[in-house]
Amino acid sequence: MLRAFAYSSFAAPGLFDEKLRSIVSQSAAFNRIAGVTGAMLVDGTRIFQYIEGPSDGLEAVVRRIEQSRSHTLMRPLLDAPTAQRAVPYWAMTRLDTGQTVVSGLINAGWDEFGQRPVAHSPGMELLSSVLRPHFPVANASD
Ligand SMILES: Cc1cc2nc3c(=O)[nH]c(=O)nc-3n(C[C@H](O)[C@H](O)[C@H](O)COP(=O)(O)O)c2cc1C
Repeated sequence: MLRAFAYSSFAAPGLFDEKLRSIVSQSAAFNRIAGVTGAMLVDGTRIFQYIEGPSDGLEAVVRRIEQSRSHTLMRPLLDAPTAQRAVPYWAMTRLDTGQTVVSGLINAGWDEFGQRPVAHSPGMELLSSVLRPHFPVANASD
């Protein structure tokens, strides 16, 4: 069973320097083992992160995120089963999208579980439209 999890938080002072780069590469390494994929969208102050994967792997990742002192005021936005991966391409990636996109995602409405599948929530639709242009495209010569 796949689960999806998303949250917002505030970066600790200094995070957007070298430290976040190393967090993203450590995170990708752990997520690869846990079977988790996702993305982090940041604006210099706030963080929005979406992850998905098998429940046990996802839980281990969420615990690591909760325990990190590199961010504060973590607020869960989504924690629900999902039928298929929406972001299969990255174990973790970071996109500097600016404030409008990050606050749009945080306020998009993720809370409608039970009423319709995660994939059709306003938040997920917005996230997909933001990420789609960054998805790797298959090379014609592959
Ligand atoms: C914004 C943010 C996102 C993170 N995402 C992940 C993740 O996707 N997978 C993971 O295993 N750990 C994740 N972590 C945890 C880090 O990999 C690392 O374990 C943690 O930052 C180390 O603790 P510290 O920040 O207190 O030094 C994240 C941490 C932060 C701050």
